[in-house]
Amino acid sequence: MNTLLAAFAFFVPIFLLLAKRRISSKKTPPGSLGIPMIGQSLSLLQHMRANTAEKWLEKRIQKYGPISKMCLFGKPTVFIYGQAANKFVFASDSSTLANSQTESVKTILGDRCLLELSGEEHKRVRNALMSFLKPESLKHYVGKMHQEVRLHIEQNWQGKQEVTVLPLMKTLTFNIICTLLFGIERGTRRDELVDWFQEMIAGMWSIPINLPFTRYNRSLQASKRVQDMLKDLIGEKKLQLQQMGADPKQDLITCLLSMNDGEEISEKEIVDNSVLVMTAGHDTSSVLVTFLIRLLANDPSVYKAVLQEQEEIAKSKHRGEPLTWEDLTKMKYTWRVAMETMRMFPPIFGGFRQAAKDIEFDGYIIPKGWQIFWVSSMTQMDDGIFREPQKFDPARFENPSSIPPYCYIPFGGGPRICPGYEFAKIETLVTIHHLVTQFTWKLSSDNRFSRDPMPVPTKGLPIQIVQKKQILQVS
Ligand code: HEM
Repeated sequence: MNTLLAAFAFFVPIFLLLAKRRISSKKTPPGSLGIPMIGQSLSLLQHMRANTAEKWLEKRIQKYGPISKMCLFGKPTVFIYGQAANKFVFASDSSTLANSQTESVKTILGDRCLLELSGEEHKRVRNALMSFLKPESLKHYVGKMHQEVRLHIEQNWQGKQEVTVLPLMKTLTFNIICTLLFGIERGTRRDELVDWFQEMIAGMWSIPINLPFTRYNRSLQASKRVQDMLKDLIGEKKLQLQQMGADPKQDLITCLLSMNDGEEISEKEIVDNSVLVMTAGHDTSSVLVTFLIRLLANDPSVYKAVLQEQEEIAKSKHRGEPLTWEDLTKMKYTWRVAMETMRMFPPIFGGFRQAAKDIEFDGYIIPKGWQIFWVSSMTQMDDGIFREPQKFDPARFENPSSIPPYCYIPFGGGPRICPGYEFAKIETLVTIHHLVTQFTWKLSSDNRFSRDPMPVPTKGLPIQIVQKKQILQVS
């Protein structure tokens, strides 16, 4: 026994020493960091704008393999690609990978928003948001969403021969957020908020130089105005809760103010996360609906099948009766079309994390503090995973278990999976229902788009529309 212990005591340190040597002898991934600070940033941005970023990254993968180093936005960065890379990014916790935002995003959105929180704090604030954004809660708001879309179409589509889709979808998603999440009525306050909000997000991806007349400076000022407006709103909602016993579930802000003991979130957290939800939920959903409209114009057979599904639902309803959660559960084909749209035109191209410690991945070392650049959307166009990836085929999603894990993740995964998934799904289905049952359309301009960083169709996607004579779903 003693001999065994002695052997153990002798060999274990030697084994640990060798193991440590093996790790430290591992190299950082292949590739070059390029010109200091600038690195490959300009090249990436140029390819994003020309809509060739995937091709640019594919070339890297051919040259270096699925992991390589570069320098992006002033930081040494490791680009990783593939199913294992996606799993690593989304399944790792904050002790391995920290969330990493650029300086401008951090200052503009506020340091108590979910993107800046980790561990238990992230979980607490996220749970609070989910108490409103979970399906069991959102299913009661389908009627409200329906009314917003109906009003939007009345004001912006009816009687027109041509409309530009992307700006209209941005207006619609902003109005939906104001009504459902913030409980802000239409009128001066909402109009002011939208102006400040546009100014705020314009500087989100800018260089953080806070000098008068820079984009960043204007954005910071706008962010302050947005925050002040939200603080006033919170004050009013607090008063409503105290004096009139407002319904705690009437909107997200009231819901957050009514959290139980032990789950409370601070006023600063409510402000910062309202700004985050406004930002995260605005462009993403509007881009998805815009690309759906573009696809339906390009593919008559898909349009016909979507129309058939939506007409069935419209026929089952009385005149003016709003859509319900049960109606949405019948829109299976339409949602598969939306999923296929996100496979080919993902609203979120990729993002960044930061190594919280030295990490060994795929035989290389990613040093502590380096950025990790993930582009999970690339597995969605991999012909080893999706056969004929260039072909638009919603049938791929008939059997979700046929898709390997971590290969189709437009809403991310793990502890930071998009909390707005259900909200975006409801918005999309309700909007498409109204549009296909009331209009036909064709594209007025070409089919191209660029990335900014979201996909943006040329000229915002102008379309010629014809209102159907017999509106099935008169609402
Ligand atoms: C088509 C629509 C949408 C897409 C494709 C989308 C996609 C994503 C993705 C990929 C992430 C994860 C990013 C990461 O892991 O770093 C994310 C996070 C997030 N999304 Fe969405 N999103 C959409 C709509 C929305 C909506 C409507 C809301 C709000 C109502 C929202 C709120 C958020 C928030 C707050 C986060 C941060 C979560 C966290 O860090 O825990 N999103 N979204």
